[in-house]
Amino acid sequence: MTVERRDFLKVVGGASIASSLTTYSTASLGTATDSLAFGFTDENVPMNAANLCPMPSNVTAAHARYAQALDLSLSADNRTTIVGFKEEARSRVAAMLGSSSDEIAIVRNTSEANNVIVQGIPLQAGDEVVLWDQNHPSNGVAWDVQAKRVGATVRRFSVPRDTNSIDEVVDHFIAAVSDKTTAVSFTHISNITGFRTPAAEICAALRKRKADVFIHIDGAQTWGAVDIDLGAIEVDSFSGSAHKWFMGPREVGILYVRKQHIDNIWPNIVSIPWGQMVDDAPAGARKFDALGQRDDAAVAALGDAAALHEALTPAGIEARSMMLADRLRESLQDLGVTFVSTSNPLFTSSVVIISVPRESARELTGKVYDDSGIITAPTGGLRMSPHVYNTEDHIDRVVAAVKKFKNLLS
Ligand SMILES: Cc1ncc(COP(=O)(O)O)c(C=O)c1O
Repeated sequence: MTVERRDFLKVVGGASIASSLTTYSTASLGTATDSLAFGFTDENVPMNAANLCPMPSNVTAAHARYAQALDLSLSADNRTTIVGFKEEARSRVAAMLGSSSDEIAIVRNTSEANNVIVQGIPLQAGDEVVLWDQNHPSNGVAWDVQAKRVGATVRRFSVPRDTNSIDEVVDHFIAAVSDKTTAVSFTHISNITGFRTPAAEICAALRKRKADVFIHIDGAQTWGAVDIDLGAIEVDSFSGSAHKWFMGPREVGILYVRKQHIDNIWPNIVSIPWGQMVDDAPAGARKFDALGQRDDAAVAALGDAAALHEALTPAGIEARSMMLADRLRESLQDLGVTFVSTSNPLFTSSVVIISVPRESARELTGKVYDDSGIITAPTGGLRMSPHVYNTEDHIDRVVAAVKKFKNLLS
């Protein structure tokens, strides 16, 4: 795959405000087959997909074009056309995740999606929620707040880093569940350690242990990074942010809710386009995205990002990002660094973290950036999360910089 870099402003500036409506038809979708253009320069290379990804230039341009078209004319027809792209985005996203459009809500981010579940499932006094201790706060302390509100309890458990087999991981989950457990919630790939949970095996074992348990997976680190089939995982709900691995518009996210649960989950926000009556809710999981006025251009551009994933294929994206992450892991191993993330191939992901004393992590991130032009994160150590827009050269540059500043690692 060729990675071209273009000047961001030139690309955006190239989108004509005089474009007619036809220019933002679906003709703009599905363009990225064998070349992929991003706006960043060689001195500012993102390797922090676990936090935020750049949008491909064609998605940035599409977003700008939709916004410009709205500024040109806020006529009802024009707005309806652009809002209509939301449904197209929904069906593309649903198909790629192995779900139906009616099971996908287009919300603002993973935090919001997680909180729809936390606050929306019927949790009562005496119920128990079981959480992996590596969950993000929006899927962690958010449950504590809700449990306090309704009189439920929260139980956390760990999966030790040296866990060696999928069965052992599953056993840790099952050991945490009791007859009072109403819901189990965990992160698909941890943002803290990069540990990839065997989600399908966990869900199957949980259902065997307690058939009516509600299972939520936070997919912030998997949606767009990993080839996912939610039907095969048999999870009840799943969340993600387009601005992370999906390389889509910022402040757009998704919530998948399995069909049979949609009626039993309360929405957090009820606004346009819910309707005027209690029972007027939009069809299926759309009831969770009746959030009032959105950035319609951003929501529409989700479809363009989805088209890119279709063209590259989720499996192809996963393979490329994992190839880069494996090269990174191997090169760092050769340097003799200590890893926070696992090196067990059963659980590795494209989130690679090496150990750095807390007081040096920010300094090291800055030095690595100044020296190599690679943007990493001081999260849990030095966190590097390469994606399709990275190259082997980027990996070699970040490793060379870590070697240069190795004195900061201990
Ligand atoms: C696992 C996980 N969940 C949730 C979030 C929150 O994502 P957002 O800020 O897009 O809502 C993050 C952000 O890093 C994350 O890593």
